[in-house]
Amino acid sequence: MIDLLVRGARLVGNADLVDIQIDGGRFLAITPSANAVAPTARQTIDAAGALISPPFVEPHVHLDATLTAGEPRWNESGTLWEGIACWSERKPSLTRDDVVSRAEEVLRWYAANGTLHVRSHVDITDPGLIALDALLEVRERVKDVIGLQLVAFPQEGICSFPGGEELLEEAARRGVDVIGAIPHFEDTREDGVRSVEIAIDIAQRYGLRIDAHCDEIDDEQSRFIEVLATQAHRTGLRDRVTASHTTAMGSYNQAYSYKLQRIVARSGINLVCNPIVNLHLQGRFDTYPKRRGLTQVKEMLDAGVNVAFGHDDIMDPWYPMGTANPVLVAYVGAHATQLTSPSEVAECFRMVTDRAADVLGLAEEYGVEVGRPASFVILPAVDGFDVIRRQVRPTHVIARGRLIATSPVATTTLRWPGRDAEDIDFVRQSDRSTR
Ligand code: FE2
Repeated sequence: MIDLLVRGARLVGNADLVDIQIDGGRFLAITPSANAVAPTARQTIDAAGALISPPFVEPHVHLDATLTAGEPRWNESGTLWEGIACWSERKPSLTRDDVVSRAEEVLRWYAANGTLHVRSHVDITDPGLIALDALLEVRERVKDVIGLQLVAFPQEGICSFPGGEELLEEAARRGVDVIGAIPHFEDTREDGVRSVEIAIDIAQRYGLRIDAHCDEIDDEQSRFIEVLATQAHRTGLRDRVTASHTTAMGSYNQAYSYKLQRIVARSGINLVCNPIVNLHLQGRFDTYPKRRGLTQVKEMLDAGVNVAFGHDDIMDPWYPMGTANPVLVAYVGAHATQLTSPSEVAECFRMVTDRAADVLGLAEEYGVEVGRPASFVILPAVDGFDVIRRQVRPTHVIARGRLIATSPVATTTLRWPGRDAEDIDFVRQSDRSTR
């Protein structure tokens, strides 16, 4: 007898229905439903033709700051800079219990939404490293459900914050997975370049990945992406390096953009665009025309660069809203970056699933394949386009073979004049639109 059997599911990119056997927390077999001899299982889920997908992956969030919006005051200007000021006022009151309870609450939201891998930045420009120690504890506490990667994030700088370099290395010693940087925030351009070199040196010495907040500013002169990508190329770190935000790209001229696409593609680095939060934060100093301030997602994808979408902030000093919903991130991302043809919307689904998994370097830990950990979602949809268009919630979330979340399919009964009461079926409509 096996642990779990899912009958009649549709794999992403394949119309044929399959039965999926799960045992011992891993995928045991995937067989066509048409000729399957079903084994007995302790638990059976009838997928009824729904989509089965690897779980959503969050490549960029700040769990140490989450759920602190309004503490001690609201960010009234809506700028990144006032957000940093509010956060530096909140930091002195951080405690271990405070960080653990807020981070775990949002991780439960993530799990309920079908996100089972999360990369969180944690601010280490705090001599006490309180949030870091708390999140290292959270990483251990949630590991049976969510794979949590922690980035040592020097929010107030490596060179520009007293002891910044030492704190970054201490975070590496304490066990972070990834080294961060924030070159555009450093006091001078030279400090910014030096901060990237320091981050890369520490990452190499401790065998860690790199994920830098890079050029998150509407300044067309902010060009640390070329520094980070070139360093990734020359050191051979390549896809172990990620540049997050890269919003200055929204202001680069076409000649420089062309040069940059070549440098970034050659480097093999990943990019993470955070469309919801950067649509909110960027352009705040503009009158009209007002810039969007986003990564050149379409152009970088065309150049062969791996790009993922992240949420970034959830109810914190930088962004007052958010429900940890990756489908909403992809939906907003599609519009904000004008990736709206059917194949481009499907690509947006990949940017919150397998492209984001590549950012985290999950490799064999991710995917609906025999032998891999049985973490997945069942989505009442026909394909990735359909998931994004209708903002579909997973009906089932399974973490390492264990059913951890269920949501009924939402239906609306319409009483239209002259017609019998009927359930509105948006799925049938989407079947037409994607054929
Ligand atoms: Fe961020």
